[in-house]
Amino acid sequence: MKTELCERFGIEVPIFGFSHAVEVVAAVTNAGGYGVYGATRRLAEEITDEVAQIRAAVGERPFGLDLVIPNKVPEKNDRAELEKLVPEAHRRFIDGLETKYAVPKPSEPGMRTRFIRSEEIQDSQIAAVAESDVNMVALGIGCPPEVVKLMKSKGKTTVALVGQERHAARALEAGVDLLVAQGYDAGGHTGQVGTFSLVPRIVDMAGSVPVLAAGGVATGRHIAAALTLGAQGVWIGTAFLMTEEYRPHLSEGEMDALLNAQATDTVISRAESGKPFRQTRSAWSEEWTLPDAPAPLSHPLHDVLVGDILGAIIEHDIRPLQHYGAGQGIGWFDRLRPVSEVMNTLVREGDLALARSYQFSGETA
Ligand SMILES: Cc1cc2nc3c(=O)[nH]c(=O)nc-3n(C[C@H](O)[C@H](O)[C@H](O)COP(=O)(O)O)c2cc1C
Repeated sequence: MKTELCERFGIEVPIFGFSHAVEVVAAVTNAGGYGVYGATRRLAEEITDEVAQIRAAVGERPFGLDLVIPNKVPEKNDRAELEKLVPEAHRRFIDGLETKYAVPKPSEPGMRTRFIRSEEIQDSQIAAVAESDVNMVALGIGCPPEVVKLMKSKGKTTVALVGQERHAARALEAGVDLLVAQGYDAGGHTGQVGTFSLVPRIVDMAGSVPVLAAGGVATGRHIAAALTLGAQGVWIGTAFLMTEEYRPHLSEGEMDALLNAQATDTVISRAESGKPFRQTRSAWSEEWTLPDAPAPLSHPLHDVLVGDILGAIIEHDIRPLQHYGAGQGIGWFDRLRPVSEVMNTLVREGDLALARSYQFSGETA
């Protein structure tokens, strides 16, 4: 399954593994893939520390870091200012959920309220990443040309995640080195176009810029299919959730939600962040669809509304409301395995699937 991209980026297999856990990122890279650290919810000083931890674990091998940089965010990291904009009906709705499900207050702000996604925070994150020795910078939402330029000037590979052709055109214009065509199946923030429909379209637009397929890549057969669609590799998130290295980052309730989920148990909801986000279905996603529920707010105002209750749901193990971001591929993962085993299985199955497709076409591998 080695592609040209492996040579170019110094990896053994064209599997990029996205994770919010430094341990998973290091393990993907050490297994011959390209680990990518989801750092958008980390402060600049945390990013500096965590990049150093990953570097210590992987040596010279390459790894990346992912930031989300939407274009319309407040200037300052000022929660009090945003609180003033939250409508009363939305506050009452959250109060109602706290009462209905007996959710105590959290002991500290949640992941979405520990800071406000703002220009102030984004600028400090970008500066920390630029000064770090991370090899690659991926932009999950938004692809500001000045950030691409800065990271390239620091010798970093630049990557943009795109969910439709319009996003890809902007990213190519900004000069990224690699595109990730992320389809509807994907966990976390996701778009409306299915992976099979999206990937070949993006490949056709991208010219000499290589494309990775993302969204629903869960087995080696998916990898073989992605390569056949014209992608030079894959970008995977969901498969690395059910790993021993990720386990310390999940509550019991979140793990149960993931372990028991099939594709049909995931749902795209704006209740998490204000933007469409695929997650396991729970009372959290369902409550927001009821006739009396308000529409989710815009991002990042929605973070301010829900950040603390989401933190409290995890802290106090409120089972009906516990959920986790996951893609439609989650059904393939029903037990915890080390990252190295997930990687080895993907590679073994992928090679087999490719050999089989050569057989079908009468060629030899
Ligand atoms: C729990 C979770 C959180 C995610 N958070 C981010 C993120 O912060 N930034 C980003 O660019 N992508 C994020 N993603 C999307 C991944 O980068 C990746 O595109 C996606 O997981 C691929 O599809 P898959 O889930 O089917 O493997 C997240 C995915 C999951 C499952």
